[in-house]
Amino acid sequence: MAVDILIGLQWGDEGKGKIVDVLAPTYDIVARFQGGPNAGHTLEFEGTKHVLHQIPSGIFHPHIKNIIGNGVVLDPIVFRTEMLKLQERGVDAAKNLYLSKKTQLIIPSHRVIDRVSEEALGKEKIGSTLKGIGPTYQDKMGRVGLRVGDIIAPDFKDRYNKLRDRHRKIVEFYGQELDLGEQEALFFEAIDFLRTLKLVDSEYMINTAIKNGERILAEGAQGSLLDIDFGTYPFVTSSTTLVAGACTGLGVAPRHIGEVYGIFKAYCTRVGSGPFPTELHDEVGEQIRKAGNEFGSTTGRARRCGWIDLPVLKYSIMLNGVTQLNMMKADVLTEFDTIRVCTHYKLASGEITDQLPHSLEEQFEPVYVDLPGWKVDLNKVETVEDLPEAFVNYVTYLEEQLQVPVTIVSVGPDRKSTLKREQEKVA
Ligand code: GDP
Ligand code: IMO
Ligand code: MG
Repeated sequence: MAVDILIGLQWGDEGKGKIVDVLAPTYDIVARFQGGPNAGHTLEFEGTKHVLHQIPSGIFHPHIKNIIGNGVVLDPIVFRTEMLKLQERGVDAAKNLYLSKKTQLIIPSHRVIDRVSEEALGKEKIGSTLKGIGPTYQDKMGRVGLRVGDIIAPDFKDRYNKLRDRHRKIVEFYGQELDLGEQEALFFEAIDFLRTLKLVDSEYMINTAIKNGERILAEGAQGSLLDIDFGTYPFVTSSTTLVAGACTGLGVAPRHIGEVYGIFKAYCTRVGSGPFPTELHDEVGEQIRKAGNEFGSTTGRARRCGWIDLPVLKYSIMLNGVTQLNMMKADVLTEFDTIRVCTHYKLASGEITDQLPHSLEEQFEPVYVDLPGWKVDLNKVETVEDLPEAFVNYVTYLEEQLQVPVTIVSVGPDRKSTLKREQEKVA
């Protein structure tokens, strides 16, 4: 049996959480494989909105096992808060949650380093969520990090102190003092909580599940253009956000990969700094932000908005081997008479290309085609047969350009506002 993987194709916040929740009933296991509390995955059903940061989006389905894989960086304090919130809402998350012993721990001083190093970058700052992601992955690669499995070792406190003291020197290098206030006490309280959970060798768990024919869905965080290698470096996150990250982040061999769901918005957004070729700085961008409620699920920051960018999508589809596309937030474009699609870039040399230049900061202009808008409130559409013709033409155009079928169209934040093409409303 194969592991299916769901990946964001743009700069994150495509709607991954919603689709994982929609697809989850057909799976036995949902697993996160990279990222950490920088993610904010929103799910809506039965009139309630839930935002998950580190817990996989399969958690609301009682029959599903949810795994936090070895490739994740976990902040115990944020995690405990998330777990308690779920408990308040009547979800027994501890029952179905498994943590890899190899998952790296974010300790409070990682967050401080994130902040002081961003401050030092000044105008060139990455726009990090300041959750400690970069510093924790640095320590992982530097082979000095702490892992979930270490918390049961008798000398865990000593190891923690050693890492914290190392961080103190780094913070001092930036000319600041390391003041953790109550964070250390909260950290150890959260570590005690972690000790009560199921800490597992998740690579064995997953491979046994594959052998037993169980169905597994790997839930990506961030987006392909935030990938450490292929994203808009250095304005990226510190993990492999691509399909390849699921292999190393869960211990899944490439031959076990099945379907690859590529998720994208019908337009495009980005939060934080860095290149964004189709960004709109005018009232159209403002209109999209308002209609799409484009404010970050983790930091509350306003998201930058622009038109859909096909060179970006083609690049992400190529790198991930996407087999099915899911188009999100189509309802947000209802008001527009014309929908613009960037098909190519015109470089300073005059060359027209549909490939991403090495540096997206070089001078170039997006080339657009204009397609007619549908002017119908898609959120009210119940079946694919009722989708307006102009909208179907838009989807067909994208399929022709991208050479991958669009199998799911999302027309609202709720679980129910999901149309499977050639099927009636899901859920
Ligand atoms: P993720 O990080 O990829 O899981 O996405 P986020 O949760 O950060 O951002 C997606 C936002 O769009 C959330 O507020 C969702 O509730 C919302 N959303 C998801 N799908 C749709 C949709 O089809 N239409 C509208 N209007 N909102 C959606
Ligand atoms: P989800 O999973 C959107 C962005 C940050 C910043 C850059 C680096 O919800 O799609 P980091 O904190 O990782 O060092 O920040 O990456 N970023 C995201 N943008 N969605 C996310 O996650 C993101 N996670 C990180 O804004 O530009
Ligand atoms: Mg998000």
